[in-house]
Amino acid sequence: MSTLLIKNIAEIATMQGPIPRTGKSMRDAGYIHDAAIYIENGKIAFIGPNSDAPLNADKIIDAEYCCVTPGLVDPHTHPVFAKTRESEFVMRLEGKPYMQIAEEGGGIMSSVRSLRDVDKKTLKEITRRHLDGFLQYGTTTIEAKSGYGLTLDDEIKSLEIIRELNDEHPLDLIATFLGAHSLPTELKENRQEFLRIIVEEMLPKVVENNLAEYCDIFCENGVFDVAESRYVLEAAKKLGLKIRIHSDEFEPIGGTELAGKLGAASADHLMVVTDEGIKAMKDGRVTPIVLPATTFFLGHPHYAPARKLIDAGLPLALASDFNPGSSMTHSLQMTMTIACVNMKLLPEEALSACTVNAAYSLDRHDRIGSLSEGMDVDLVIWDTENFRQVVYHFGVNHARVVVKGGEVV
Ligand code: NIG
Ligand code: FE
Repeated sequence: MSTLLIKNIAEIATMQGPIPRTGKSMRDAGYIHDAAIYIENGKIAFIGPNSDAPLNADKIIDAEYCCVTPGLVDPHTHPVFAKTRESEFVMRLEGKPYMQIAEEGGGIMSSVRSLRDVDKKTLKEITRRHLDGFLQYGTTTIEAKSGYGLTLDDEIKSLEIIRELNDEHPLDLIATFLGAHSLPTELKENRQEFLRIIVEEMLPKVVENNLAEYCDIFCENGVFDVAESRYVLEAAKKLGLKIRIHSDEFEPIGGTELAGKLGAASADHLMVVTDEGIKAMKDGRVTPIVLPATTFFLGHPHYAPARKLIDAGLPLALASDFNPGSSMTHSLQMTMTIACVNMKLLPEEALSACTVNAAYSLDRHDRIGSLSEGMDVDLVIWDTENFRQVVYHFGVNHARVVVKGGEVV
Protein backbone atom coordinates (compact mmCIF):
# COMPACT_ATOMS: atom_id res chain seq x y z
CA MET A 1 0.00 0.00 0.00
CA SER A 2 1.53 3.35 -1.03
CA THR A 3 0.62 6.62 0.62
CA LEU A 4 1.02 10.26 -0.32
CA LEU A 5 0.40 13.30 1.86
CA ILE A 6 -0.07 16.78 0.43
CA LYS A 7 0.13 19.21 3.33
CA ASN A 8 0.06 22.95 3.92
CA ILE A 9 -2.53 23.70 1.24
CA ALA A 10 -3.81 27.29 1.58
CA GLU A 11 -7.10 26.52 -0.16
CA ILE A 12 -8.69 23.46 -1.75
CA ALA A 13 -11.56 23.93 -4.18
CA THR A 14 -12.98 20.48 -3.43
CA MET A 15 -16.06 20.95 -5.64
CA GLN A 16 -17.91 18.83 -3.08
CA GLY A 17 -21.68 19.44 -3.22
CA PRO A 18 -24.31 19.03 -5.91
CA ILE A 19 -23.40 17.21 -9.12
CA PRO A 20 -23.95 18.57 -11.66
CA ARG A 21 -23.82 22.21 -10.60
CA THR A 22 -26.70 24.36 -11.81
CA GLY A 23 -27.86 27.92 -11.04
CA LYS A 24 -26.37 29.47 -7.92
CA SER A 25 -24.64 26.23 -6.90
CA MET A 26 -22.16 26.82 -9.73
CA ARG A 27 -20.65 29.52 -7.52
CA ASP A 28 -19.87 27.00 -4.80
CA ALA A 29 -16.35 25.60 -5.09
CA GLY A 30 -16.56 23.72 -1.76
CA TYR A 31 -13.55 25.61 -0.47
CA ILE A 32 -11.67 24.41 2.58
CA HIS A 33 -8.72 26.36 3.93
CA ASP A 34 -5.46 25.41 5.64
CA ALA A 35 -5.93 21.86 4.52
CA ALA A 36 -4.27 18.57 3.60
CA ILE A 37 -5.02 15.55 1.43
CA TYR A 38 -3.92 12.00 2.28
CA ILE A 39 -3.89 9.44 -0.51
CA GLU A 40 -3.87 5.66 -0.11
CA ASN A 41 -3.44 3.50 -3.21
CA GLY A 42 -4.51 6.23 -5.58
CA LYS A 43 -7.72 7.12 -3.71
CA ILE A 44 -8.41 9.98 -1.32
CA ALA A 45 -8.41 8.60 2.24
CA PHE A 46 -8.53 11.97 4.00
CA ILE A 47 -9.28 15.54 2.93
CA GLY A 48 -9.64 18.17 5.65
CA PRO A 49 -7.81 20.46 8.06
CA ASN A 50 -4.03 20.27 8.06
CA SER A 51 -4.09 19.73 11.80
CA ASP A 52 -6.16 16.52 11.50
CA ALA A 53 -4.14 14.93 8.71
CA PRO A 54 -1.88 11.89 9.24
CA LEU A 55 1.67 12.99 9.95
CA ASN A 56 3.54 10.42 7.89
CA ALA A 57 3.35 8.95 4.42
CA ASP A 58 5.63 7.23 1.89
CA LYS A 59 5.84 10.52 0.07
CA ILE A 60 5.07 14.00 1.38
CA ILE A 61 4.50 17.07 -0.77
CA ASP A 62 4.60 20.44 0.98
CA ALA A 63 2.20 22.66 -0.98
CA GLU A 64 3.80 25.74 0.61
CA TYR A 65 0.47 27.46 1.01
CA CYS A 66 -0.56 27.23 -2.61
CA CYS A 67 -4.04 26.21 -3.72
CA VAL A 68 -5.40 22.92 -5.07
CA THR A 69 -8.28 22.06 -7.39
CA PRO A 70 -9.43 18.82 -9.01
CA GLY A 71 -7.62 18.03 -12.26
CA LEU A 72 -9.40 19.93 -15.01
CA VAL A 73 -11.65 17.99 -17.36
CA ASP A 74 -11.81 19.09 -21.01
CA PRO A 75 -14.99 17.69 -22.59
CA HIS A 76 -14.38 18.73 -26.24
CA THR A 77 -11.03 18.40 -28.05
CA HIS A 78 -9.73 17.42 -31.50
CA PRO A 79 -6.15 16.32 -30.67
CA VAL A 80 -5.42 13.89 -33.55
CA PHE A 81 -4.07 15.94 -36.46
CA ALA A 82 -0.81 16.01 -38.37
CA LYS A 83 -0.12 19.66 -39.17
CA THR A 84 -0.80 23.10 -37.79
CA ARG A 85 -2.71 25.72 -39.84
CA GLU A 86 -1.17 29.08 -39.00
CA SER A 87 -1.56 30.25 -42.62
CA GLU A 88 -5.34 30.18 -42.11
CA PHE A 89 -4.94 32.12 -38.89
CA VAL A 90 -3.23 34.84 -40.95
CA MET A 91 -5.94 34.66 -43.65
CA ARG A 92 -8.54 35.30 -40.97
CA LEU A 93 -6.56 38.24 -39.63
CA GLU A 94 -6.67 39.61 -43.16
CA GLY A 95 -10.44 39.36 -43.15
CA LYS A 96 -11.40 35.99 -44.60
CA PRO A 97 -14.06 34.21 -42.52
CA TYR A 98 -13.51 30.68 -41.17
CA MET A 99 -16.36 29.13 -43.18
CA GLN A 100 -15.12 30.76 -46.41
CA ILE A 101 -11.64 29.31 -45.90
CA ALA A 102 -13.31 25.92 -45.52
CA GLU A 103 -15.42 26.38 -48.68
CA GLU A 104 -12.24 27.13 -50.62
CA GLY A 105 -10.68 23.82 -49.61
CA GLY A 106 -8.84 24.89 -46.45
CA GLY A 107 -10.18 24.36 -42.94
CA ILE A 108 -11.04 20.84 -41.85
CA MET A 109 -10.22 19.41 -45.32
CA SER A 110 -6.68 20.72 -45.13
CA SER A 111 -6.20 18.78 -41.89
CA VAL A 112 -7.81 15.75 -43.54
CA ARG A 113 -5.30 15.80 -46.40
CA SER A 114 -2.30 16.04 -44.07
CA LEU A 115 -3.60 13.33 -41.72
CA ARG A 116 -4.16 10.89 -44.59
CA ASP A 117 -0.57 11.53 -45.69
CA VAL A 118 1.18 10.55 -42.46
CA ASP A 119 1.75 7.07 -41.14
CA LYS A 120 0.15 5.99 -37.90
CA LYS A 121 3.37 6.01 -35.90
CA THR A 122 4.19 9.63 -36.77
CA LEU A 123 0.62 10.74 -36.14
CA LYS A 124 0.67 9.05 -32.77
CA GLU A 125 3.87 10.84 -31.71
CA ILE A 126 2.48 14.22 -32.79
CA THR A 127 -0.70 13.51 -30.81
CA ARG A 128 1.30 12.40 -27.77
CA ARG A 129 2.97 15.80 -27.63
CA HIS A 130 -0.44 17.47 -27.49
CA LEU A 131 -1.42 15.24 -24.58
CA ASP A 132 1.71 16.40 -22.76
CA GLY A 133 0.49 19.95 -23.35
CA PHE A 134 -2.90 19.30 -21.75
CA LEU A 135 -1.31 17.71 -18.70
CA GLN A 136 1.21 20.51 -18.24
CA TYR A 137 -1.66 22.99 -18.13
CA GLY A 138 -3.52 21.08 -15.44
CA THR A 139 -5.98 19.07 -17.54
CA THR A 140 -6.11 15.42 -16.45
CA THR A 141 -8.97 14.06 -18.61
CA ILE A 142 -10.03 14.98 -22.14
CA GLU A 143 -12.75 13.94 -24.50
CA ALA A 144 -10.89 13.25 -27.77
CA LYS A 145 -12.53 13.25 -31.18
CA SER A 146 -11.49 11.68 -34.44
CA GLY A 147 -12.68 13.54 -37.55
CA TYR A 148 -9.69 14.44 -39.69
CA GLY A 149 -9.63 11.10 -41.52
CA LEU A 150 -13.08 10.82 -43.12
CA THR A 151 -12.35 7.38 -44.59
CA LEU A 152 -12.91 4.13 -42.75
CA ASP A 153 -9.18 3.45 -42.43
CA ASP A 154 -8.18 6.96 -41.43
CA GLU A 155 -10.94 7.30 -38.84
CA ILE A 156 -10.02 3.92 -37.38
CA LYS A 157 -6.35 4.94 -37.38
CA SER A 158 -7.25 8.10 -35.41
CA LEU A 159 -9.39 6.23 -32.90
CA GLU A 160 -6.77 3.54 -32.41
CA ILE A 161 -4.24 6.25 -31.60
CA ILE A 162 -6.64 7.67 -29.01
CA ARG A 163 -7.07 4.22 -27.46
CA GLU A 164 -3.35 3.43 -27.45
CA LEU A 165 -2.42 6.78 -25.96
CA ASN A 166 -5.10 6.41 -23.32
CA ASP A 167 -3.26 3.28 -22.23
CA GLU A 168 0.25 4.70 -22.53
CA HIS A 169 -0.11 8.30 -21.39
CA PRO A 170 -1.08 9.51 -17.89
CA LEU A 171 -3.86 11.68 -19.35
CA ASP A 172 -7.25 9.92 -19.61
CA LEU A 173 -8.88 10.09 -23.02
CA ILE A 174 -12.55 9.45 -23.72
CA ALA A 175 -13.02 8.69 -27.40
CA THR A 176 -15.61 10.21 -29.68
CA PHE A 177 -16.15 9.15 -33.30
CA LEU A 178 -16.58 12.28 -35.43
CA GLY A 179 -16.54 10.75 -38.91
CA ALA A 180 -19.19 13.31 -39.91
CA HIS A 181 -16.93 16.31 -39.33
CA SER A 182 -17.02 17.45 -42.96
CA LEU A 183 -18.06 16.11 -46.34
CA PRO A 184 -14.80 14.86 -47.90
CA THR A 185 -13.86 16.52 -51.20
CA GLU A 186 -13.84 13.22 -53.10
CA LEU A 187 -17.53 12.72 -52.27
CA LYS A 188 -18.58 16.34 -52.74
CA GLU A 189 -21.12 15.37 -55.38
CA ASN A 190 -22.32 12.34 -53.43
CA ARG A 191 -23.35 13.23 -49.90
CA GLN A 192 -25.64 10.22 -49.69
CA GLU A 193 -22.76 7.87 -50.31
CA PHE A 194 -20.66 9.45 -47.55
CA LEU A 195 -23.54 9.22 -45.08
CA ARG A 196 -24.05 5.61 -46.09
CA ILE A 197 -20.36 4.87 -45.47
CA ILE A 198 -20.58 6.49 -42.04
CA VAL A 199 -23.67 4.55 -41.03
CA GLU A 200 -23.10 1.22 -42.73
CA GLU A 201 -19.32 0.89 -42.66
CA MET A 202 -17.65 3.19 -40.15
CA LEU A 203 -20.09 3.09 -37.21
CA PRO A 204 -20.37 -0.73 -37.10
CA LYS A 205 -16.58 -1.07 -37.25
CA VAL A 206 -16.06 1.54 -34.52
CA VAL A 207 -18.54 -0.25 -32.28
CA GLU A 208 -17.31 -3.73 -33.08
CA ASN A 209 -13.77 -2.75 -32.09
CA ASN A 210 -14.96 -0.76 -29.10
CA LEU A 211 -13.11 2.33 -30.33
CA ALA A 212 -15.45 5.06 -29.13
CA GLU A 213 -17.91 5.82 -26.36
CA TYR A 214 -19.58 8.75 -28.15
CA CYS A 215 -20.55 9.78 -31.66
CA ASP A 216 -20.57 13.44 -32.72
CA ILE A 217 -21.45 15.37 -35.90
CA PHE A 218 -20.82 18.93 -37.13
CA CYS A 219 -24.41 20.15 -37.62
CA GLU A 220 -24.08 23.48 -39.42
CA ASN A 221 -25.22 25.26 -42.53
CA GLY A 222 -22.87 24.11 -45.30
CA VAL A 223 -21.74 21.02 -43.38
CA PHE A 224 -24.43 18.54 -42.25
CA ASP A 225 -28.08 19.55 -41.89
CA VAL A 226 -30.51 18.45 -39.18
CA ALA A 227 -31.97 15.52 -41.14
CA GLU A 228 -28.48 14.18 -41.89
CA SER A 229 -27.44 14.67 -38.28
CA ARG A 230 -30.48 12.81 -37.09
CA TYR A 231 -29.74 9.95 -39.49
CA VAL A 232 -26.16 9.55 -38.23
CA LEU A 233 -26.85 10.08 -34.53
CA GLU A 234 -29.86 7.75 -34.45
CA ALA A 235 -27.78 5.05 -36.12
CA ALA A 236 -25.03 5.59 -33.54
CA LYS A 237 -27.53 5.38 -30.70
CA LYS A 238 -28.96 2.15 -32.05
CA LEU A 239 -25.48 0.67 -31.96
CA GLY A 240 -25.10 1.68 -28.31
CA LEU A 241 -22.99 4.83 -28.61
CA LYS A 242 -23.86 7.91 -26.60
CA ILE A 243 -24.07 11.13 -28.57
CA ARG A 244 -22.72 14.68 -28.65
CA ILE A 245 -23.24 17.35 -31.31
CA HIS A 246 -21.54 20.47 -32.69
CA SER A 247 -24.52 22.81 -32.97
CA ASP A 248 -25.46 26.48 -33.24
CA GLU A 249 -21.91 27.64 -33.90
CA PHE A 250 -22.61 30.06 -36.76
CA GLU A 251 -26.26 29.65 -37.80
CA PRO A 252 -29.13 28.30 -35.72
CA ILE A 253 -30.41 25.50 -37.96
CA GLY A 254 -31.88 23.30 -35.22
CA GLY A 255 -28.99 21.06 -34.11
CA THR A 256 -29.50 21.86 -30.44
CA GLU A 257 -33.21 21.07 -30.70
CA LEU A 258 -32.21 17.73 -32.23
CA ALA A 259 -29.80 17.12 -29.33
CA GLY A 260 -32.74 17.58 -26.93
CA LYS A 261 -34.99 15.22 -28.88
CA LEU A 262 -32.33 12.51 -29.03
CA GLY A 263 -31.22 12.94 -25.41
CA ALA A 264 -27.63 13.76 -26.37
CA ALA A 265 -25.05 13.95 -23.59
CA SER A 266 -24.01 17.40 -24.79
CA ALA A 267 -24.59 20.13 -27.35
CA ASP A 268 -21.43 22.09 -28.03
CA HIS A 269 -20.54 25.61 -29.32
CA LEU A 270 -24.00 27.27 -28.92
CA MET A 271 -22.82 30.73 -29.99
CA VAL A 272 -26.20 31.35 -31.63
CA VAL A 273 -28.44 29.03 -29.58
CA THR A 274 -32.14 29.98 -29.58
CA ASP A 275 -34.74 29.90 -26.80
CA GLU A 276 -36.15 26.74 -28.40
CA GLY A 277 -32.69 25.18 -28.27
CA ILE A 278 -32.37 26.04 -24.59
CA LYS A 279 -35.77 24.52 -23.85
CA ALA A 280 -34.88 21.39 -25.81
CA MET A 281 -31.68 20.96 -23.77
CA LYS A 282 -33.71 21.24 -20.56
CA ASP A 283 -36.27 18.71 -21.76
CA GLY A 284 -33.64 16.28 -23.03
CA ARG A 285 -31.24 16.72 -20.07
CA VAL A 286 -28.44 17.81 -22.39
CA THR A 287 -25.30 19.44 -20.99
CA PRO A 288 -24.47 22.68 -22.82
CA ILE A 289 -20.75 22.95 -23.55
CA VAL A 290 -19.53 26.39 -24.56
CA LEU A 291 -16.17 27.00 -26.24
CA PRO A 292 -15.16 30.61 -25.63
CA ALA A 293 -11.54 30.07 -26.72
CA THR A 294 -12.92 29.30 -30.19
CA THR A 295 -15.01 32.48 -30.29
CA PHE A 296 -11.96 34.41 -29.11
CA PHE A 297 -9.58 32.79 -31.60
CA LEU A 298 -11.99 33.28 -34.52
CA GLY A 299 -12.29 36.92 -33.47
CA HIS A 300 -16.08 36.74 -33.25
CA PRO A 301 -17.77 39.45 -31.22
CA HIS A 302 -20.64 37.24 -30.10
CA TYR A 303 -20.05 34.67 -27.33
CA ALA A 304 -22.44 31.88 -26.39
CA PRO A 305 -25.02 33.15 -23.86
CA ALA A 306 -23.50 31.36 -20.88
CA ARG A 307 -25.42 33.38 -18.28
CA LYS A 308 -28.70 32.63 -19.98
CA LEU A 309 -27.85 28.92 -20.00
CA ILE A 310 -27.05 29.01 -16.28
CA ASP A 311 -30.22 30.98 -15.53
CA ALA A 312 -32.19 28.35 -17.44
CA GLY A 313 -30.96 25.82 -14.87
CA LEU A 314 -28.62 23.97 -17.24
CA PRO A 315 -25.31 22.46 -16.00
CA LEU A 316 -22.98 24.61 -18.10
CA ALA A 317 -19.60 23.10 -19.01
CA LEU A 318 -16.57 24.69 -20.69
CA ALA A 319 -14.06 23.15 -23.10
CA SER A 320 -10.97 24.23 -25.01
CA ASP A 321 -12.11 22.80 -28.38
CA PHE A 322 -8.38 22.30 -28.99
CA ASN A 323 -7.94 21.93 -32.77
CA PRO A 324 -5.56 23.31 -35.44
CA GLY A 325 -8.17 25.57 -37.06
CA SER A 326 -10.47 27.36 -34.68
CA SER A 327 -8.85 26.94 -31.24
CA MET A 328 -5.16 26.23 -30.99
CA THR A 329 -4.83 26.03 -27.23
CA HIS A 330 -4.50 23.25 -24.65
CA SER A 331 -5.22 25.65 -21.86
CA LEU A 332 -8.38 25.50 -19.81
CA GLN A 333 -6.79 28.19 -17.64
CA MET A 334 -6.94 30.56 -20.62
CA THR A 335 -10.40 29.28 -21.54
CA MET A 336 -11.66 30.10 -18.03
CA THR A 337 -10.22 33.63 -18.22
CA ILE A 338 -11.88 34.22 -21.61
CA ALA A 339 -15.16 32.87 -20.21
CA CYS A 340 -14.97 35.16 -17.20
CA VAL A 341 -14.09 38.28 -19.18
CA ASN A 342 -16.41 37.78 -22.14
CA MET A 343 -19.26 35.74 -20.70
CA LYS A 344 -19.09 37.32 -17.25
CA LEU A 345 -18.76 34.01 -15.45
CA LEU A 346 -17.39 34.16 -11.91
CA PRO A 347 -14.15 32.21 -11.43
CA GLU A 348 -15.97 29.55 -9.38
CA GLU A 349 -18.62 29.17 -12.09
CA ALA A 350 -15.85 28.66 -14.64
CA LEU A 351 -14.23 26.09 -12.35
CA SER A 352 -17.53 24.19 -11.88
CA ALA A 353 -17.83 24.18 -15.68
CA CYS A 354 -14.30 22.72 -16.11
CA THR A 355 -14.55 20.10 -13.37
CA VAL A 356 -17.82 18.61 -12.04
CA ASN A 357 -20.00 19.63 -14.97
CA ALA A 358 -17.46 18.62 -17.59
CA ALA A 359 -17.10 15.24 -15.84
CA TYR A 360 -20.90 14.94 -15.71
CA SER A 361 -21.18 15.51 -19.47
CA LEU A 362 -18.78 12.57 -19.92
CA ASP A 363 -20.51 10.34 -17.39
CA ARG A 364 -17.39 10.27 -15.17
CA HIS A 365 -18.65 12.40 -12.26
CA ASP A 366 -18.55 9.43 -9.87
CA ARG A 367 -14.76 9.27 -10.14
CA ILE A 368 -13.40 12.66 -11.23
CA GLY A 369 -14.21 16.37 -11.21
CA SER A 370 -14.35 16.74 -7.44
CA LEU A 371 -12.19 15.81 -4.47
CA SER A 372 -13.73 13.78 -1.68
CA GLU A 373 -12.96 10.59 0.16
CA GLY A 374 -13.00 7.54 -2.15
CA MET A 375 -12.62 9.50 -5.38
CA ASP A 376 -9.75 9.19 -7.85
CA VAL A 377 -6.89 11.53 -7.07
CA ASP A 378 -6.63 13.79 -10.08
CA LEU A 379 -5.58 17.18 -8.82
CA VAL A 380 -3.48 20.22 -9.51
CA ILE A 381 -1.34 22.23 -7.11
CA TRP A 382 -1.31 25.74 -8.60
CA ASP A 383 1.44 28.29 -7.95
CA THR A 384 -1.05 30.77 -6.42
CA GLU A 385 -2.50 31.07 -2.95
CA ASN A 386 -6.08 31.02 -4.15
CA PHE A 387 -7.91 29.74 -7.21
CA ARG A 388 -9.15 33.15 -8.34
CA GLN A 389 -5.58 34.18 -9.09
CA VAL A 390 -5.27 31.36 -11.62
CA VAL A 391 -8.00 32.96 -13.73
CA TYR A 392 -7.05 36.56 -12.95
CA HIS A 393 -3.32 36.34 -13.73
CA PHE A 394 -3.88 35.27 -17.32
CA GLY A 395 -1.66 34.05 -20.13
CA VAL A 396 0.78 32.14 -17.92
CA ASN A 397 0.74 28.53 -16.82
CA HIS A 398 0.07 28.32 -13.08
CA ALA A 399 0.07 24.52 -12.82
CA ARG A 400 2.93 23.55 -10.50
CA VAL A 401 2.30 19.89 -9.67
CA VAL A 402 -0.19 17.66 -11.48
CA VAL A 403 -1.30 14.44 -9.76
CA LYS A 404 -3.08 11.88 -11.95
CA GLY A 405 -4.49 8.69 -10.44
CA GLY A 406 -2.58 9.40 -7.24
CA GLU A 407 0.80 9.73 -9.00
CA VAL A 408 2.75 12.91 -9.56
CA VAL A 409 3.13 13.19 -13.35
O1 NIG B 1 -15.20 22.45 -33.11
N1 NIG B 1 -16.58 23.30 -35.72
C1 NIG B 1 -16.12 22.24 -36.14
N2 NIG B 1 -15.02 21.60 -35.78
C2 NIG B 1 -13.97 22.20 -35.05
C3 NIG B 1 -13.01 22.94 -35.91
C4 NIG B 1 -12.22 22.05 -36.75
C5 NIG B 1 -11.15 22.70 -37.59
O2 NIG B 1 -11.25 23.86 -38.03
O3 NIG B 1 -10.22 21.97 -37.85
C6 NIG B 1 -14.56 23.03 -33.94
O4 NIG B 1 -14.38 24.25 -33.88
FE1 FE C 1 -15.07 21.02 -32.04
